[in-house]
Amino acid sequence: MSVEKQLRRNLKIFKLSNFRIFKSLNIMPAALSAKPRRVTTHTLQEMKSRGEKIAMLTAYDYSIAKILDRAGVDVLLVGDSASNVMAGYETTIPITLEEMIYYASSVVRAIERSLVVVDLPFGSYQGNSKEALNSAIRIMKETGAHAVKLEGGREIVESVSRILSAGIPVMGHLGLTPQSIHKFGTYVVRAKDDAEAKKLVDDAHIIAEAGIFALVLEKIPASLGAKVAGELKIPVIGIGAGRHVDGQVLVLHDMLGITQDFSPRFLRRYHNLYQEITGAVTKYIDDVKNADFPNEKEQY
Ligand code: KIV
Repeated sequence: MSVEKQLRRNLKIFKLSNFRIFKSLNIMPAALSAKPRRVTTHTLQEMKSRGEKIAMLTAYDYSIAKILDRAGVDVLLVGDSASNVMAGYETTIPITLEEMIYYASSVVRAIERSLVVVDLPFGSYQGNSKEALNSAIRIMKETGAHAVKLEGGREIVESVSRILSAGIPVMGHLGLTPQSIHKFGTYVVRAKDDAEAKKLVDDAHIIAEAGIFALVLEKIPASLGAKVAGELKIPVIGIGAGRHVDGQVLVLHDMLGITQDFSPRFLRRYHNLYQEITGAVTKYIDDVKNADFPNEKEQY
């Protein structure tokens, strides 16, 4: 046997024996597992049970989704916030099902581990439950995503049930629901008064009993977020719903500081990419204008 063959054989035996040891301990170092274990709706439920917080971010394209997935984000939401941050619309209302499918399929092609959830856009599910099911089926078939998200409570429960009956996992969304912006008129904190808070809690129970696997709560008092997360068995993921929920979600462009004109209290900016990109691009323009780019080494 050649030295190379012997080495390969030893490596195989080494990997196999370590694999068995780690497996018996129920741990698996990244180097030994070919691909990271995929996050499923089941994984999220287990995370809630053991008190491990869920990290969710929005994603709309292949290259960024790849970074987020490899960085370890548990859930990637192809949000209809794409309408704002990708397409430049003022609200989430104009984005179409076709556009969501385009963004979602780009994200799905990038991921190895994260669970991908896709927003059903405005107008693709409110008509009736059959329309909702058809839209959800298109998302699942044409993108390869793992779940859909719908805004609303009791008024969409029939649609939720119908989508679930086709085996499609559904994430709920209550509190500030941007697709209803024209009904509410503003983006202020929701459910501050007792009546609206009670309705939100009731709605959360109604759609949880229908079978959603997780619920997003947007821009509500922290005490209400804690109450809902405490009462529901499924994971509750907040965006401006305080810290006593089971996970957090932010719009990527906001947390990276690409958007500048949106500064709600709940938003923590982790970077100022607007400034960074402006700096890099300005330098590039200078280099081109001064004939400094390309240099000798950057040409053929
Ligand atoms: O569309 C979106 O980005 C969302 C998040 C704000 C939760 O629904």
